[in-house]
Amino acid sequence: MEKIIVLDFGGQYNQLIARRVRECNVYCEVKPYTTPLAELKAMEPMGFIFTGGPNSVYAEGSPQVDPAIFELGLPILGICYGCQLMAHTLGGQVTAAQEDTAREYGKTKTYFDTACKLFKGLPAEGITWMSHGDYMAKVPAGFALTAHTDHCPNGAIADETRGFYGVQYHPEVNHTEHGVDMIRNFLYEVCGCHGTWNMGDYMRTTIAAVREKVGGGKVLLALSGGVDSSVAAALLAEAVGDQLTCVFVDHGLMRKNEGDEVEAAFAKWNIHFVRVDAEKRFLDKLAGVTEPEHKRKIIGEEFIRVFEDEAKKIGKVDFLVQGTIYPDVIESGAGDAAVIKSHHNVGGLPDYVDFKEIIEPLRLLFKDEVRQLGRELGLPEYLVMRQPFPGPGLAIRVIGEVTKEKLDVLRDADAIFREEIANAGLEYSINQYFAVLTNMRSVGVMGDGRTYDYTLALRGVTTTDFMTADWARIPYEVLDKASVRIVNEVGHINRICYDITSKPPATIEWE
Ligand code: XMP
Repeated sequence: MEKIIVLDFGGQYNQLIARRVRECNVYCEVKPYTTPLAELKAMEPMGFIFTGGPNSVYAEGSPQVDPAIFELGLPILGICYGCQLMAHTLGGQVTAAQEDTAREYGKTKTYFDTACKLFKGLPAEGITWMSHGDYMAKVPAGFALTAHTDHCPNGAIADETRGFYGVQYHPEVNHTEHGVDMIRNFLYEVCGCHGTWNMGDYMRTTIAAVREKVGGGKVLLALSGGVDSSVAAALLAEAVGDQLTCVFVDHGLMRKNEGDEVEAAFAKWNIHFVRVDAEKRFLDKLAGVTEPEHKRKIIGEEFIRVFEDEAKKIGKVDFLVQGTIYPDVIESGAGDAAVIKSHHNVGGLPDYVDFKEIIEPLRLLFKDEVRQLGRELGLPEYLVMRQPFPGPGLAIRVIGEVTKEKLDVLRDADAIFREEIANAGLEYSINQYFAVLTNMRSVGVMGDGRTYDYTLALRGVTTTDFMTADWARIPYEVLDKASVRIVNEVGHINRICYDITSKPPATIEWE
């Protein structure tokens, strides 16, 4: 198998580099820079990518690399710190930029020498995402300058004979135009890769690795029905079949038919699938509660109680599976950001369940890669492409007290709205869309009679990261159709509003 090693020097974008390599259909692994050279060599890579990092190469204690890596006869692409480290180790000179103009951060106009293999077939100028305070005062012998900016003569360097390339900018981020093409050029033109690897290979390798780790052990997984836990469950089901128990806590706060859909998706595997009907437990606990954070806390805690009760029935397990994906790993490391809403996920479970080890088979993947893997595993499209749905479910979309009656009204209205969005072909261009049952009632007229019923709010947002979002410009005709149908087909709703606030200042969910 063609393989690239991404040598990690502590930069922010390391997994993004790995992801770009996978996008080019080449297998890669991220290894810490401290990995012994013999071990790296034994992996038989076709080339290395040195990542960026927060340090200066000349600072005491900064990450270094065994100089013998340059003697392996393998191509190397150094990015930012990786580029400076290569220059520094091979006899160049890297110093702190004396003038402010030599430090470059952010979008920078860059000019490329298209005779260099890294830039082959690409435009001679474009925008790159620079982020360096250090400056290569002297490039090592054998290297040529292959890109420059208006302020810096050495935006990129290359020793094409040895296959060594360095760039001062980040080709892996979207802001760098043709950045992925540069990485592809490195992989195909320099390292000689053919791009034969795909998500099917990833699936097979991961399944084999999980089998080896689990052996004959017992595995437990909390299935929420979301994309991540579903894909993790399918992967484990494929790997260890009847050693796996999936506990699906149906809290009665799901959308219309959702519980049945989740159950149906797993029917083809011979696993222990436990669907716990806990609707009553949750609704009893929520009775009379109106404050959003209080609702969230109750649901989070009750979820753990229910799961704990089920886990006790199963007895000791060896492994607990979690559907953590790479963006969760980054976000949970984000430190002291203010808590806007207490998010509910399975992160609290390990304290309550007796197990030996956690398995996180999706830890290195980005969301769209997880979806792709789900497809490889044969999960239905409605699960794989499912829009995000909050852990506390419809309880935070029923404003005020949550009752079974209100939930049923909301479920029906929400299903119609989603159906009309799909009929209009908008289901993938709007990132999240749903209905909210407000706690407000108003007067209406139906037939010849007065009504006094609920106001329903519709919400649709476009976003890439869900940290900020814009309200979706859904065509009036689509809103109109949904509105007419909801009022006619669902009882107890006589007025419909569309939420036209962005995030910030609003949040995506209403509670
Ligand atoms: P907000 O409302 O904070 O939502 O703008 C941002 C995104 O997070 C989802 N969300 C949750 N997801 N557990 C989750 O797993 C939660 O408790 C939760 N609350 C909000 C929300 O649907 C949106 O996609």
